[in-house]
Amino acid sequence: MAEPILRIRQLKQHFKLGGGLFQKKNFVYAVDGVSFDLYPGETLGLVGESGCGKSTLGKTLLRLHEPTAGTIEFEGQDITHLGEKAMRRLRQDIQIIFQDPMESLNARHTIGMILEEPMMVHGIGTPAERRERAKALLERVGLPRDAVDRYPHEFSGGQRQRIGIARAISLKPKVIVCDESVSALDVSVQSQVLNLLLDLQQEMNLALIFIAHDLSVVRHVSDRVAVMYLGRVVELTDAHTIYSSPKHPYTQSLIDAIPIPDPRQRDRERIRLTGDVPSPINPPKGCHFAARCPRAMDRCVTEQPQLITLSEGHEAACFLNE
Ligand SMILES: Nc1ncnc2c1ncn2[C@@H]1O[C@H](COP(=O)(O)OP(=O)(O)OP(=O)(O)O)[C@@H](O)[C@H]1O
Ligand SMILES: [Mg+2]
Repeated sequence: MAEPILRIRQLKQHFKLGGGLFQKKNFVYAVDGVSFDLYPGETLGLVGESGCGKSTLGKTLLRLHEPTAGTIEFEGQDITHLGEKAMRRLRQDIQIIFQDPMESLNARHTIGMILEEPMMVHGIGTPAERRERAKALLERVGLPRDAVDRYPHEFSGGQRQRIGIARAISLKPKVIVCDESVSALDVSVQSQVLNLLLDLQQEMNLALIFIAHDLSVVRHVSDRVAVMYLGRVVELTDAHTIYSSPKHPYTQSLIDAIPIPDPRQRDRERIRLTGDVPSPINPPKGCHFAARCPRAMDRCVTEQPQLITLSEGHEAACFLNE
């Protein structure tokens, strides 16, 4: 197997809240010890409920947030503490696309300026070459070349997401984090944009981290899926196995929430999620899912289950698998 392009170990992002001189300091344990590898050309789906830390994980591994602890390796190099200058060069290789491209596209800049800016920052080409490349990028993502002279508000949501993709690929990255990149789009537009991403992935041998709430979207695009719950990865395996044989009760509950017409699946007892996600501010000590887990045991409340390998390429963090 190829070497991973990205290797994350025990990554933590704890945000400090308040904490005046005599106030108790509270921390949001947004990402609390996440480890995984990402391989060149693969798509790793990252799913979990709102607030479980998906975006924070994405931003932290790009070093948009400084990690509280843990390590990030890119192509075998530890980049956890890399200085800003070296990091800037690396940012060509790792890109992020957000849910709402309107937020990340400067409304007062033309599409040409938006696409040429990263090339300018990295000293690529002459102004004429950059303009030509911007037009070629637009063409590649299915937009007219003359869009360079227009502004973001002149485009639909789907078109703006294509512009976001054009910008993300402009420096020929190796990894793209897609943070809910199609979630806000209509279903038909969603699949067009998804197909574009997957085509580009093939063409450029891109590794994608594909973040979404919706397991059904993730299922179709991912090679492997990581399920997150309150700051931690609770299960990780290939996209087929995660649906056919989930080993963590939380994963099971997510799958049971998708209506499945498959009669073979009907006999299995379905897990329905009740209760709310606990707060990531000073979260419970043991398994974060314990309070909502229909199969929780005493030790789940006091002890944290570690992510262990159950079979080749299948990891889960649940005492039921011991
Ligand atoms: N800069 C910050 N300072 C303090 N807390 C933060 C910060 N950014 C995120 N959080 C908190 O960290 C937790 C994880 O947030 P995050 O946005 O990563 O979740 P998410 O899984 O992406 O959710 P969603 O699916 O809604 O996008 C939340 O409780 C959030 O309020
Ligand atoms: Mg998010």
